[in-house]
Amino acid sequence: MIPTNTSGLRRYMEKDERIAVMQVFSDLCDQAKSVIGSSPYTHTELDFRPVAEKLSSGEPEDAWENLKVAVAHCGKCKLCSTRNHTVFGEGVIHPLVMVVGEGPGAEEDASGRPFVGRAGQYLDKWLASIGLSRETNVFIGNIVKCRPPENRVPEPDEIAACIPYVRKQIELLQPKLLLLSGSTAAHALLERVEGVGKLRNQTFDYHGIPTVVTYHPAGVLRNPEYRRPVWEDMKRIAQILGLPILGKS
Ligand code: URA
Repeated sequence: MIPTNTSGLRRYMEKDERIAVMQVFSDLCDQAKSVIGSSPYTHTELDFRPVAEKLSSGEPEDAWENLKVAVAHCGKCKLCSTRNHTVFGEGVIHPLVMVVGEGPGAEEDASGRPFVGRAGQYLDKWLASIGLSRETNVFIGNIVKCRPPENRVPEPDEIAACIPYVRKQIELLQPKLLLLSGSTAAHALLERVEGVGKLRNQTFDYHGIPTVVTYHPAGVLRNPEYRRPVWEDMKRIAQILGLPILGKS
């Protein structure tokens, strides 16, 4: 285990040893920073320890696993104090499609899994209509990894704290297509301000990855008039990726 402060080290180490250990610690900080894009220890150094310990464990560097550890122990914003579980996302590595939603709701917070409530079941149906599923060729994630209280929209500081994680996920997963579900995901990743109605029907380029915007399944459940546009968006995705259109189930 790596001591995380110099007074702790002073008790049982000579000066040279302390300097060597602090050098290792500082190198690990740099490595952790390169894994998640920013330092995770804004609250206390303890938030950082699991990452540093994992990096120092002698296992081969595994950026994806390190990212999971960083998210699981994250304390970068106030949502960490009300969450039950972080929701890292789930699905396959190097998927055809990566779906990005807004943030966990009650069921997701309780289970630690993304899109498992009613909206999630609906999303699974959309995906199945063009031969996609989180079991075989999709990864599903969110802009924020912790549930905002009462399912409110994540606040700008929460998005700013969390967005390096989803950006890193996209970079590591390299999906063939990004599907941004709802305005929070579209605004945060594309840095646009228009509504989904304006942003859908276009194919954006997110760091070389074709990117499509559609409505959020929770919004479609509340507004059935969005069902047809979503179906059009699914068909357009199928066309871009050369997938069969299996039809609505
Ligand atoms: N809504 C989201 O945006 N994400 C989830 O994981 C669940 C509901």
